Amino acid sequence: SIVDPLMRTGYHFQPRKNWINDPNAPLYYKGWYHLFYQYNPKGAVWGNIVWAHSVSRDLINWAALKPAIEPSIPSDKYGCWSGSATTLPDGTPVIMYTGVSRSDVNYQVQNVAYPRNTSDPLLREWVKPSHNPIIVPRGGINATQFRDPTTAWRAPEDGRWRLLIGSVAGTGRGRGGAPPRGAAYVYRSRDFRRWTRARRPLHSAATGMWECPDFYPVGTSGRRAGVEASSVSAASGKKVKYVLKNSLDLRRYDYYTVGAYDRAAERYVPDDPAGDERHLRYDYGNFYASKTFYDPAKRRRILWGWANESDTAADDVAKGWAGIQAIPRTVWLDPSGKQLLQWPIEEVEALRGKSVALKDTVIKPGQHVEVAGIQTAQADVEVSFAFEATSLASAEALDPAMAGDAQRLCGARGADVGGGVGPFGLWVLASADRQERTAVFFRVFRPAHGGKPVVLMCTDPIKSSLNPNLYQPTFAGFVDTDISNGKISLRSLIDRSVVESFGAGGKTCILSRVYPSLAIGKNARLYVFNGGKAEVRVSRLTAWEMKKPLMNGA
Ligand code: FRU
Repeated sequence: SIVDPLMRTGYHFQPRKNWINDPNAPLYYKGWYHLFYQYNPKGAVWGNIVWAHSVSRDLINWAALKPAIEPSIPSDKYGCWSGSATTLPDGTPVIMYTGVSRSDVNYQVQNVAYPRNTSDPLLREWVKPSHNPIIVPRGGINATQFRDPTTAWRAPEDGRWRLLIGSVAGTGRGRGGAPPRGAAYVYRSRDFRRWTRARRPLHSAATGMWECPDFYPVGTSGRRAGVEASSVSAASGKKVKYVLKNSLDLRRYDYYTVGAYDRAAERYVPDDPAGDERHLRYDYGNFYASKTFYDPAKRRRILWGWANESDTAADDVAKGWAGIQAIPRTVWLDPSGKQLLQWPIEEVEALRGKSVALKDTVIKPGQHVEVAGIQTAQADVEVSFAFEATSLASAEALDPAMAGDAQRLCGARGADVGGGVGPFGLWVLASADRQERTAVFFRVFRPAHGGKPVVLMCTDPIKSSLNPNLYQPTFAGFVDTDISNGKISLRSLIDRSVVESFGAGGKTCILSRVYPSLAIGKNARLYVFNGGKAEVRVSRLTAWEMKKPLMNGA
């Protein structure tokens, strides 16, 4: 059953037990990485929210500390909700978070907390000064939709701090049935204590409430150039673009745009005017309420995101736990400047153990090949596929009605619908008879009016389990890559009930939660499959068993 301990993840971030949601205030301090997160100390469903706290030297092995922030003052009595850390010029991290201050409605205000002892690298104790709350919903703000402050930045021009708060614009009601406008309000302060709201939000769009906004610079000359700026303030004058990310409460996913920040006007403008409708996503699967931070130790920006369960709340109660954090990902700007790239932090490779490899292996149409010799319930797989460029002529025609909708396209043409070039990819967490299997695959389409072939990446969990009552949506995104050379790569981090995949070097990512009944522990198998008409070659595949790190004492 789903309650089987073999469903519990091995190397994804989890506390010993209970419910978790958003990652909060990730930061690096005196040699330690800190992760705070939304946590219910009393059970495996959402409620009683406090900030749990874990520390790590390498973002992989974690030790749990006591909760850092718990309800204790009138302005956070009914919940300590999401927030972020800002490092002050003297090196002190300060946390801004949302407090719920009423029991009848979720009335939201913003509070601040400081470390009690800055010489403690573990930052074990946090103090809430008596001037809390420091931001309250005044002047037409909807008090029940006003939360999740970002990391603050300071503009060199006037020395004032700025931060964003997720909310809705105007009355918070959409016109004529349309969703209300999500908005990221700007607050400014000289002393981190008295904050005033800028008249207009940094940005807004008709997408519904924006939770957990994130706003940061990305270098335009690649991650290895070392130009990633630590913060919006440090980015000033450098060659950068900006990313604005919002978590869509209505649709439950994180989308972002890449754009410009007009400091004088205090406004953000997406490069793609339709960016707020096109919905580029960090992850086309189960990934929400994410947050980045700048890692000064390795000069990179790291993304944390929460993946909820896809079983029932009753299963969660029986398991005694619910929710994980995705493997932290390095994020940087794609050379096209149009989207981000993401890749699991390099530290995760330290968990790689025994491995097997395939080289130059042809997978004929309709065939599958097992990757045998290691256990793959907890594994890391990297594979490069190749096909003859001439076979692109046999690619399926793209139905123009679905050209913009990866999700629908994959729903209609799942892993078991035969194709032309693809579906090809991996069956992971598969039983020996393949009765159970989760497909992670690519599929190539010819657009109706010519032009570049369109590449779809999909995770299809329809056959992932014989267990009933699971949420099993197919997840899909387009991959903006030139496939005319017949090459594409895939990496999947498999972790018992997690399949976290990175297509084309991190252009398109999909995290999915599955709960096999047969393909568990030693019985989980891995295959490469080809459901298309064109022959596909595995140029190279390596699969590693993944070790279990120290995980919060579990
Ligand atoms: C997002 C969210 C945040 C809120 C927190 C409460 O998942 O709803 O907007 O601060 O969770 O736990």
